[in-house]
Amino acid sequence: MSNIKNLFNKVKERVLSSKNTYELDLIYSKFLGKNSYLSKLTKKIHLISLKDRSYVGKLINKIKCDITNIILEHRTHLEKEILEKSIANEKIDITLPGRTNRIGGLHPITSTIIDISHFFYRLNFINVPGLEIEDSYHNFDALNIPINHPSRKPQDTFWLNKEILLRTQTSSIQIRYMKNNKPPIRIISFGKVYRKDYNVTHTPMFHQMEGLVVDRNINLLHLKNIICEFLNFFFNKKKVIRFRMSYFPFTEPSMEIDIMNNDNWLEVIGCGMVHPKVLKNLNINTKIFSGFAFGLGIERLVMIRYNINDIRYFFKSDLRFLKQFK
Ligand code: DAH
Repeated sequence: MSNIKNLFNKVKERVLSSKNTYELDLIYSKFLGKNSYLSKLTKKIHLISLKDRSYVGKLINKIKCDITNIILEHRTHLEKEILEKSIANEKIDITLPGRTNRIGGLHPITSTIIDISHFFYRLNFINVPGLEIEDSYHNFDALNIPINHPSRKPQDTFWLNKEILLRTQTSSIQIRYMKNNKPPIRIISFGKVYRKDYNVTHTPMFHQMEGLVVDRNINLLHLKNIICEFLNFFFNKKKVIRFRMSYFPFTEPSMEIDIMNNDNWLEVIGCGMVHPKVLKNLNINTKIFSGFAFGLGIERLVMIRYNINDIRYFFKSDLRFLKQFK
């Protein structure tokens, strides 16, 4: 009898000192399982005298019951402890500063386009969209560019088939717009253009801006004035500039505008009075109307503005470069 009582105390001690439910399972099978001392004892109960048998039987059952209960009790206790611990660990510290949502900035080309367009909006220009995939009529023919002009050659131009190409200049918008609209015309247009070139000053895709004014009595002075005002606005100071005679098939006379930068003349804008042939192509009466047009490379202007020496930085998506313009 005392053995059995001692056994209970021993089990109780082990149960209470066990740290997890796995240990409890082991204790259960050791003391209540098939091969446990108590099970063996139960099997031998017929060896006890009848007089004592029921007492011993009851005692064994009671001990089994007590052990089961104490294991259950301790299991509940352990499970509660585990739950509380995990709740404590998962606690959210609401005093921690939140993660900030970093908002990207505009690409310098984009912000420059916006900048430039604001200047021209104030002069009542409207901004019209063009097509990046053009046909040879709008990109070349209607602009009076001769059939054997080098810019039409596949070494220079991305042809998609015999007729269709990636536009090489935004000047095609002049044709598209004049086809559908009568003078007075005052438009600007921005967009990507494509040429087979790649080095520090050329990438196969770059951005141009086109401007076109067609109205009564438009002359070279209007063009010069607007360009000068624009360059002063863009560089935020009076730049030294010069108008140099040049040649474009779609303007007559044609000029290029150079600006003085670090003791060098840099060519930044092509322009001129719209060639009468171009106006006639679009059924505009050249006795009444005349116009001027200009085109510029956006990357070029941004490079001068910020002293950037390699055009390829614009398209590398290097945040160290881009962040400077935020
Ligand atoms: N399209 C010309 C180019 O890509 C630039 C240009 C020159 C545009 C004269 C014009 C212009 O509108 O009148 O080089």
